[in-house]
Amino acid sequence: MVGASAGRFISFEGIDGSGKSTQARRLAEALEPTALLTREPGGAPGAEEIRRLLVEGAPARWSPETEILLFTAARRDHLEKTIRPALDQGRVVITDRFADSTRVYQGAARAALRPLVDRLHDLMIGIEPDLTFLIDMDPEAALARGLARQSGEDRFETLGLAFQRDLRAGFLELAQSAPERIHVIDGTRDADSIAEDILNQYHAWCAA
Ligand code: ADP
Ligand code: TYD
Repeated sequence: MVGASAGRFISFEGIDGSGKSTQARRLAEALEPTALLTREPGGAPGAEEIRRLLVEGAPARWSPETEILLFTAARRDHLEKTIRPALDQGRVVITDRFADSTRVYQGAARAALRPLVDRLHDLMIGIEPDLTFLIDMDPEAALARGLARQSGEDRFETLGLAFQRDLRAGFLELAQSAPERIHVIDGTRDADSIAEDILNQYHAWCAA
């Protein structure tokens, strides 16, 4: 929770190609002009520089520990330069990925380093989104969508189908452990239906 901040902090999570970016953008458009759309890794100039170090190059470029430090450094910059100032202005901050991605990718799927991930989060980040939408879908279909983009940012996506299955299980486990915050969304539907569902859930959550 973001405590005394006036704004609302919302994250989108899920495996690669699940439709997170599409849905984060759709919600931001629906909540204009109060919404600020941002993403991780990145979301601030320095954090975007760190992003390039993380998403380009060979899969074994960084050790799992170094990778956690880089994601955490990028997140800290994002928090300081973009998220906190916007929340203080009362805006709805919508981020495409946040700390749940590190818990699942670095804490469980790529390496079993969850205790380290949690300690660094407590030391350096210390906040959770108020609300998280987990876009859940079959990794096979999601992987096909993701690879179709050919963005050059494929260091994580080339890790394969078995890896994406581990990720999906990891995200669903997190959702079970935090059911109030993490809303699981069926990502297999068409983009319009998903966007409508998410907007309805957002309004219901605001009213609760
Ligand atoms: P992510 O951010 O999770 O990687 P994207 O939103 O970038 O996912 O979507 C990945 C690809 O799938 C894009 O080409 C996008 O246009 C397409 N896509 C997104 N949502 C849907 C959907 N509900 N049905 C079919 N294709 C989709
Ligand atoms: P992203 O740009 O969201 O990729 P995609 O749109 O394909 O889902 O994120 C880039 C990659 O970084 C993605 O494979 C997930 C990975 N990642 C982590 O491993 N840990 C993290 O903490 C974050 C934020 C992302």
